Amino acid sequence: MSTADLFTPEEPDGAGDPPVVERAAWLRAVLHHHAWRYYTLDEPEIPDAEYDRLFQELQALEAEHPELQTVDSPTQRVGGRILEGLSPVTHVVPMLSIQTETDTTAAGAAAFDSRVRRELGLADGDPPLEYAAELKFDGLAINLRYERGVLVLAATRGDGETGEDVTQNIRTIGQIPLVLQGPAPEVVEVRGEVYMRRDDFERLNERQREKGDKTYVNPRNTAAGAVRNLDPAVTAQRPLSFFAYGVGDIRGWDLPATHSALLDALLSFGLPVCDDRCVAHGAPGLVAFHDQVSARRDALPFDIDGVVYKVNSLALQRALGFKTREPRWAVAHKYPAQEQVTTVLAIDVQVGRTGKLTPVAKLAPVFVGGVTVTNATLHNEDEARRKDVRVGDTVFIRRAGDVIPEVVAVLADRRPEGTTVFTMPAHCPVCGSAAVREDGEVDSRCTGGLFCGAQRKQAILHFAQRRALDIEGLGEKLVDQLVDSGIVRTLPDLYRMGLSALASLDRMADKSAQNILFALEHSKRTTLPRFLFGLGIRHVGEATGKDLASHFGTLDGIMNASIDQLLQVSDVGPVVAKSIRTFFDQPHNREVVEQLRACGVTWEEGEPAAQVPKPLAGRTVVLTGTLPTLSRDQAKDLLEASGAKVSGSVSKKTHYVVAGSEAGSKLDKARELGVPVLDEAGLMALLAGGSGPSDMPNREVTDGGS
Ligand code: IVH
Repeated sequence: MSTADLFTPEEPDGAGDPPVVERAAWLRAVLHHHAWRYYTLDEPEIPDAEYDRLFQELQALEAEHPELQTVDSPTQRVGGRILEGLSPVTHVVPMLSIQTETDTTAAGAAAFDSRVRRELGLADGDPPLEYAAELKFDGLAINLRYERGVLVLAATRGDGETGEDVTQNIRTIGQIPLVLQGPAPEVVEVRGEVYMRRDDFERLNERQREKGDKTYVNPRNTAAGAVRNLDPAVTAQRPLSFFAYGVGDIRGWDLPATHSALLDALLSFGLPVCDDRCVAHGAPGLVAFHDQVSARRDALPFDIDGVVYKVNSLALQRALGFKTREPRWAVAHKYPAQEQVTTVLAIDVQVGRTGKLTPVAKLAPVFVGGVTVTNATLHNEDEARRKDVRVGDTVFIRRAGDVIPEVVAVLADRRPEGTTVFTMPAHCPVCGSAAVREDGEVDSRCTGGLFCGAQRKQAILHFAQRRALDIEGLGEKLVDQLVDSGIVRTLPDLYRMGLSALASLDRMADKSAQNILFALEHSKRTTLPRFLFGLGIRHVGEATGKDLASHFGTLDGIMNASIDQLLQVSDVGPVVAKSIRTFFDQPHNREVVEQLRACGVTWEEGEPAAQVPKPLAGRTVVLTGTLPTLSRDQAKDLLEASGAKVSGSVSKKTHYVVAGSEAGSKLDKARELGVPVLDEAGLMALLAGGSGPSDMPNREVTDGGS
């Protein structure tokens, strides 16, 4: 695809110039066009590589012929000098501020409409006024001066009379055209807001975190800081965006009749104008816009702090004029702030359902993002340390959307004397068990497991699940009720509760209570691997449970094994070994195990691994399709008990494929590779051939399976 197919700029001025001059002009025009497609419209027409190729061609031309370099060349977006300071710029037309409506409810819109009507001397019966309604972007106001279509000066607002020259930095913003499209007036000053999108801000902070650098507080301050940075190379690294919302000095251009048409004209010059705007009629139109934007505020890709209403007719704007430094024809209608400053009263540590410890700042109540906030998460120890949040600190907190409130930064100069650095406690604040943070993890966790109140529900559900103790009917709702009512505190309590306690629960019929008791009774006869898995020891899943059981043979063997002994088990590494040791080092975990045994939970214990025959050791088997009597889990258990590895995919290394009905591609693959295929009977024969059914330690699983 060639660039010229997609966009051919008009014949450059000065046709008949030497070919290099024409080529440079053509490249500039093409690059401007594609920068606009890419940055402003977000609809690129050519691949990035093609753009880069054209850009490099222009750079090379300019290097060879420095006289071809122009101020509006796309190559001039980067490469400005580091400045000693920003120079003052006097605005030809002052940059006014805007009156703020303090009533943040929709009624504020009606108050503005009444005021304007009164000042224009309109009677109640006169038709409604037309307004241009826009978003109030939360960034930094900028004036862009274009002379004969070329960007010559960019300045901050400053005090409204005098701002600062930030031209070099503004040139780095891809969305801001260096040359206006179409026939350009002699002078156009465009006013608008430089801002940073939220996703760009998040990505920037992510990069900072990766580098271990300090993160930025919010998109607004970051954008403002970047625009005023003395090194344009730094600014070029910041993802800035721009929206035009008005004009300043104008020469050689008959302005359109309305503000909305003026914005359309700026759009046709190639400037970014936010399309979240409308022409509203009277107070009801303003109120509707205010409500509509308020509902979408959190879904916008950038921060706004309100909406702005402007009398649409430029003639009426002139008639209304100014009151000191504010126009009478515009008002900013704010929304509740999403950031506030407050103080940290305490730092608590909360324990989640999986044992994760989260530091939470307790705050002096503050109204932010539309609600009163008293807590803000500090995420984890590293985050708390990096932000260095301490009790007594004054902090910036932010609550946007439904996101949980967050401490974004500490106001360091407001820190009182005698504060101390936050450290994660060594013990769980709920149950007192050791809290550990494993190597390479960001979270500390309570090791209390079964015993920890915060983890109780989770622990019970884990214990009761089908692949663990398989207590039928003990689901999330019932566990919630049992724990909340205090009937069940620890796992053994499950086996101690009676019919009357169960039946006393809401919506629990006698029959269902009876069924639960049956299921509990039935679950008591289990296997060691299921029991081990059911304990919920971190990093001990089903497979590890099985490995441990077959290696040690008895629970006591596992509970008393040293780290070194645990490391002898296949697939058990240092992290798993440590986790098992830590679990059984907690006296209350041992207590729970003893009580469960006392309640009648039993399994057959075997001999340590060396003496248990493993006829299928070293064999890999793949299960596919539905077997006539065995469930997938049962077949897997039987195979693993015989030492086979059960894999999910067929390869040359597969020894057998066991296929039932509706076996699909795995069966085809087996045939293709010549792997022996067995049916259920063949599987049983294979298992029996090795050691005979009476030797199978898990035989009861087949009989008891549901
Ligand atoms: S018009 C004469 N429109 O709000 C009116 N301002 O004091 C001039 N702002 O920092 C402002 N969005 O940068 C206008 N859609 C918008 C705006 C907007 C944000 C900012 C502006 C200035 C403050 C007004």
